[in-house]
Amino acid sequence: METRVIGISGSPHRHGNTETLLDAFLEGAESGGAVTRKVVLRELHYSPCLGCNVCHKTGECVVGDDAPGLLGEVMTYDCLAVASPIYSMAITAELKGLIDRAQYIWAKKFVLKTLYFENEHIQQHKGIFISTAGLPYPNVFDTAFPSITALFNILGFEYFDNIVANDMDRYHGIKNHPTALAEAHRKGKHVVEKIRELKIDALSRASADQSP
Ligand SMILES: Cc1cc2nc3c(=O)[nH]c(=O)nc-3n(C[C@H](O)[C@H](O)[C@H](O)COP(=O)(O)O)c2cc1C
Repeated sequence: METRVIGISGSPHRHGNTETLLDAFLEGAESGGAVTRKVVLRELHYSPCLGCNVCHKTGECVVGDDAPGLLGEVMTYDCLAVASPIYSMAITAELKGLIDRAQYIWAKKFVLKTLYFENEHIQQHKGIFISTAGLPYPNVFDTAFPSITALFNILGFEYFDNIVANDMDRYHGIKNHPTALAEAHRKGKHVVEKIRELKIDALSRASADQSP
């Protein structure tokens, strides 16, 4: 039973602190048997949402760029890891821009009601937020959580866990952090094991329901 994990890096800084933490998570997921894919938002081409609200009538986005294809693809995965550094006390423009472009999926769910996720689907689809910040404030990630919650809710993923590391300025980078990379690796493996367990439980419940 294959578990597929997609990691989206919203950092404009290639192979910086945040992407490195995401890589550790994806390596952990692979060690748990998952098939993984990483998408780097700065390499894609998409514009911010136009706010035209056409999707409220059609369920489709009128902008023909990379965003709808990526968002559609994400929904085929079992686990979505979204990574962003904290810039100006929030997620990056790259990631916020993508989240806003998910409005057409929101419209399908809440306006047109043509899309619905069963609770079992949501439980088997796990969302993980990965972030790093320069400052030592424990609350430095707080403004990120609502947008990430919105993204996971729209796409049908349960918000499963955070992997966050602050105080990067003092550590001079994620590679010097005492625990973050090991934590990311462990959590990558753990979430894959958890999804597999939930799928096996669901299959055995379904076969018990069918037995005479
Ligand atoms: C434009 C910009 C804005 C930043 N704003 C903040 C901030 O508001 N709070 C903070 O703790 N760190 C801030 N930082 C520091 C980054 O969050 C930190 O260095 C992070 O680990 C960078 O990750 P990256 O290597 O993936 O870009 C900022 C960095 C940049 C480049």
